[in-house]
This record gives sequence, C-alpha cells and structure tokens, in this order.
Amino acid sequence: MLEKSVKIGLAGFGNVGAGVWKNLEANRKLIEGRSGVHLEITRVAVRDPKKQRDVQIPAGIVTTDWRELIDADDVDVVVELIGGTDAAFDLVTSALKAGKIVVTGNKALLAERGVEIFRIAEENNVPVFYEAAVAGGIPIIKAVQESLIGNHIEGIYGIINGTSNYIMTRMTEAGLAFEDALKEASDLGYAEADPYLDISGWDAAHKAAILASLSYGYWVRTEDLHVEGIDRVTSADIHYAEKLGYVIKLLSVVKAHGDGEIEVRTQPSLIPSGHILASVNGVFNAVSVHGDISGECLFYGSGAGQDPTSSSVLSDIVDAAHAVTKDHRGLGFTAHALYGKTMPVQDTVSEYYLRITVNDQPGVISAIATTLANHGIGIRATSSLKPSEMKENGFDEVILVLHAAKFGVLQQAVTEIEALDCVTDSVVCFRVEDLDSK
Ligand SMILES: NC(=O)c1ccc[n+]([C@@H]2O[C@H](COP(=O)([O-])OP(=O)(O)OC[C@H]3O[C@@H](n4cnc5c(N)ncnc54)[C@H](OP(=O)(O)O)[C@@H]3O)[C@@H](O)[C@H]2O)c1
Repeated sequence: MLEKSVKIGLAGFGNVGAGVWKNLEANRKLIEGRSGVHLEITRVAVRDPKKQRDVQIPAGIVTTDWRELIDADDVDVVVELIGGTDAAFDLVTSALKAGKIVVTGNKALLAERGVEIFRIAEENNVPVFYEAAVAGGIPIIKAVQESLIGNHIEGIYGIINGTSNYIMTRMTEAGLAFEDALKEASDLGYAEADPYLDISGWDAAHKAAILASLSYGYWVRTEDLHVEGIDRVTSADIHYAEKLGYVIKLLSVVKAHGDGEIEVRTQPSLIPSGHILASVNGVFNAVSVHGDISGECLFYGSGAGQDPTSSSVLSDIVDAAHAVTKDHRGLGFTAHALYGKTMPVQDTVSEYYLRITVNDQPGVISAIATTLANHGIGIRATSSLKPSEMKENGFDEVILVLHAAKFGVLQQAVTEIEALDCVTDSVVCFRVEDLDSK
C-alpha cells in the first residue's frame, strides 16, 4: 500500500488524453512502484460525453465543464489536453490560481501565452510541466531543463514537425510532388484535417520558441520568430539539393550569439546529406543540442502519436505528484538575466540556395553575379544538369549556393535580381545550414 496518493483531473480525452488513461492503467504497477505514489484520475472533462471512444471512461467521473476540475477537492493536478489557446488558457490559469499543479502538452498555448502563464505560475508558486509540448515522446524538456543545467546552450537544431518531415522524406525518396506527399500524410493520419500549422512551419516554430525560452531564460515573443513553411519546396529543389550534396528538411534553429542575442527561426533548409540529421526520416523527430561543456547531444524519437506523447505526459504527472508533496518546487520556467534579446532575422547569417527562373539568353549569369557582388555576396557553387535533364527543364533555371551573408542583405539582393529583365519569376531561396557552427 503506497503512503502517498495524488488525484488527477484530466481535461481532454482525445488522442493523447485517452493514451494517458490507457497507459497509466497498463503500466500502473511499474509507474507507482518507481514513483512511490498512487495516481488516481478522479475526473475527466470532454466536450461530448456521448462520443464513441476506443478507451472507455468509467461513468460518474465525466464532465463537460472543465471548471469542475478546478473547483473539486478531489483534484490535486490538472492535466490540460484539450488543445487550442482560448479555453486552454482559461483552464490552465484558473488551475494555477486555485493552487493546482498543471501538466500540459499544448505548444501553441505555451508559445503564444507562456509569458502570462508563467507569471501567474510564479505569483501562485505553482509549477507547470510540459514535456509533451515539444517533440512528443522525446524527453527534450527535461534534458534542457535538468540534465544540461550546467551548460550555456550554444545552439539547438531540430526537426520537430513529423508531418513536414514525412512530406519532405516522401518527396526525396519517392519523388512525390508536395501535394501528393501531403495527401499521403493525410490519408495515413499523420497530417491534421487542417494541416496549416504543420506545413506553414508554425507548429515547429512554437516548439522552437519553447526550447529557446527554456535555454535562454526569457520568454521569446511569437512576433520575434521567423517562420517559413515547406509549401514552396518543389521536387526540382529536392533534386538540385541532392546534386549539391544536401537534403531539404524543415529545420528549427535556435542559436546564441556572443552579445547575448538569440536567433530563433524555422524554415526549409539544405543540410549536408552526410549529417546525422539528414537521416531523420518519415514522421520521426530529432533535436541536436550543443552545450558549451557537454558538446553535441542528439535526441531522436517519435515526435507525436498517442503512446509516445502519453509517455511524456505520464512523466510530467509523476513530477507533478512529487511536487504536490514538496515545499520547494521548480516552476517549470525560471527567468534569468544572461540573455534576453531575440536577434532580428535580417541580422541572422547563413549560406543560401537560390533557384532563379530566367530567360535563356547571354549574360544572365553575369547580371545575377554582379547584383550579388554589389551586395558583397559571393557564389560558392552552382548546380549543373545533365544534357537530358536540361532539355526536360527547359534551360531556364539557375541554381546557386551563396557564401554566408546577412539575411537582410540577401533579401535586398534578391529583390534586385527579381527586377532584372532576364528573371521571369520570383526567386526561390532557402537557407544552407552549417550544422556544426556554434
Ligand atoms: N496528438 C499528438 O500526437 C500530440 C503530440 C504532442 C502534443 N499534443 C498536444 O496535446 C493536446 C491534445 O491533443 P490531441 O491530439 O489529444 O487532441 P484531440 O484528439 O483533438 O482531443 C481533444 C480532447 O479535448 C476535449 N475538449 C476539447 N475542448 C474541450 C473543452 N472546451 N472542454 C472539455 N473538453 C474539451 C475533446 O473532447 P471530445 O473527445 O468530447 O471531443 C477531446 O477529448 C494538444 O494541445 C496537442 O497540441 C498532441
């Protein structure tokens, strides 16, 4: 018989919520034996109590009003798994104000309203746990927060949206067009009914904001994030990238600079095909964290799905259960003054890949090269096609890899290139990432 018992209110019994219930029951002996705490889900809030569910909820503990979880004496920990940023914000902040510890997997909520949530958490001295909010089943929050606490984090590179990574993988390996790869991801249940957050890059950007905030001790504002989605990547780009020795991934980059500025950006990026992140395929996620004393640590695993995500929520529930019985408890986010400014994207530096559609006429390359040179940008490589491919492609695309330059300078050069008579379409531009740079 365990001495301690902690009561849990579960808001949301969808994909993740049902997984938490199912896996707590399946592994109860192990979890309680290891934690020394009896965990009891006493209330469950859903929208539609009549819905057919694969996992049954015992009658009598279901409510359609999440406020009951806040008011109930038999709830110590509130687990928010309803998603969205409106009701979820009210739920989380009401729980904190009522002194109830919160567990959430809601990255959009934390990225967009983390400042308010952690202020309220601090005012009420109540922790928030959120392992499932970044990279599903990969324990990256705890790794950054606890295991790497002795390090300045120099940089983080993440493939942290499974749907985008699946689409990029299928475009690369099977030669599918973007629309066909997206349809396949939807048919297999990987993409949401509305895949906007995935393919626009925003889901990954929310996770990058959380990792950046945790690593650098100030809550990164949503408006300071630079976000580009994968919808501009074509089969041609993947083909050219391959010839140049790269693969294209939706990559989130968080990097600290000597002056304390932090860059936080998410965009399709060319990464060297020999780098370990290039072999992260399908719906898998990976996060590479560079600590100043740990060196590079790579975390790889399932970034979503019922079982992996509920593994992270269960870990948080155990932490929350321990926190219920402690006087001193970490709040889940601690601000400090070492960093504090997000670098404007115009100042961020990388190499670039350009695909420029042109009229096939003499002097085209020279006009483009001169425009770039006027901005101090050099050309590092070009991709040439075999004659058979050139015919197919109509001789009308110039592919360049540029030396490192500030993004703002590159944008000015691109605007001028687009104004050249010989250039017939908007220029496609992706970053080429030096994944080993600190
Ligand atoms: N799915 C993943 O792989 C994954 C991975 C990492 C993080 N997350 C995060 O986990 C959270 C939950 O995701 P999910 O995939 O489990 O979502 P989901 O399948 O859509 O489930 C949402 C659940 O919340 C309930 N709900 C919605 N609004 C409610 C309200 N106002 N009051 C009470 N209940 C309400 C729904 O009730 P009904 O069942 O009655 O409709 C449903 O049970 C999200 O924040 C998501 O970003 C998900």
